[in-house]
Amino acid sequence: MPGWPSARNDEVWPVVAFLTRVRGMRPENYAAPVGPATAEGPPGFGSCAGCHGIDGISGNERIPRLDIQTPDYLEMALLTYRDGRRQSGYMRHAASAVPAETLRPLAQRFGRLSDATARGAGQAARAAGSGAAGAAGASEDPVEEGRRLAFALDRRRDLPACHSCHGPDAERRRPDTPSLSGQYRGYLETQLILWRDGLRGGGPRAELMSEAARRLNDDQIAALAAYYSSLAPEVPAAGGTAN
Ligand code: HEC
Ligand code: HEC
Repeated sequence: MPGWPSARNDEVWPVVAFLTRVRGMRPENYAAPVGPATAEGPPGFGSCAGCHGIDGISGNERIPRLDIQTPDYLEMALLTYRDGRRQSGYMRHAASAVPAETLRPLAQRFGRLSDATARGAGQAARAAGSGAAGAAGASEDPVEEGRRLAFALDRRRDLPACHSCHGPDAERRRPDTPSLSGQYRGYLETQLILWRDGLRGGGPRAELMSEAARRLNDDQIAALAAYYSSLAPEVPAAGGTAN
């Protein structure tokens, strides 16, 4: 698409679909797909919430959940979109359209995860028997296949153990590494393909991830996305008591 501010092709088609949907729409209906314009939050919050949802849960496989990350990670991501180290036509625009000093408050508004809440939610999920995804399954089950890959259970030296950085939960995740548990499957899959193909940049530790994804094939990527998206997110359930 001429003028699209990113080298990525995978983002263009959803824009075309959106524009097709919006064309001919009456202004009062336009508010539905783009969401609330006046939600409470730092300057620019309403436009972010239009795609990401007021609570950071977009309900759209292509738009990542933000509530499962720390404000530090979200802020770092926004800075790298803004200066182009991480490519995304949507986010380059969104992160540049707001004043630089609002990126931190926006990251704090969306990123509810502190390591303490994450640990609490992890304990609650384990007590409720969910999120472990450890049940034995047929080896063709992508979730089980993804779990074996994430823990490097097959001892393949060419594939890195994702769990050593991402964990399945806060106890086993490095604090400066994004959480993957409960993230949308479609988003995880796209990001892994971008990492593998050398198209995803990021912050100071992005090199680690490029190296980790370098030898993954499409089936392994699909399995890893299935596994991590099946895990309980590291946030207290709405109305829960896991703080
Ligand atoms: C037009 C829809 C749209 C708008 C508006 C939007 N985003 Fe996004 N956002 C996305 C998409 C799509 C992605 C995934 C991009 C990619 O592939 O890197 C994303 C990714 C992100 C990420 C990275 C999350 C991660 O796990 O790495 C952050 C942080 C973020 N957005 C915050 C914001 C903030 C803050 C705003 C408002 C200033 C905003 N977004 C506005 C669609 C949007
Ligand atoms: C040595 C530590 C390390 C290992 C091993 C590792 N990662 Fe990562 N991963 C990171 C870091 C650090 C980031 C954030 C990089 C950035 O955005 O700057 C990241 C980011 C990601 C993201 C993007 C998250 C988001 O919200 O956008 C995905 C998906 C991911 N990793 C999946 C995996 C999978 C699957 C594996 C195993 C094949 C793996 N990682 C192995 C450190 C690691």
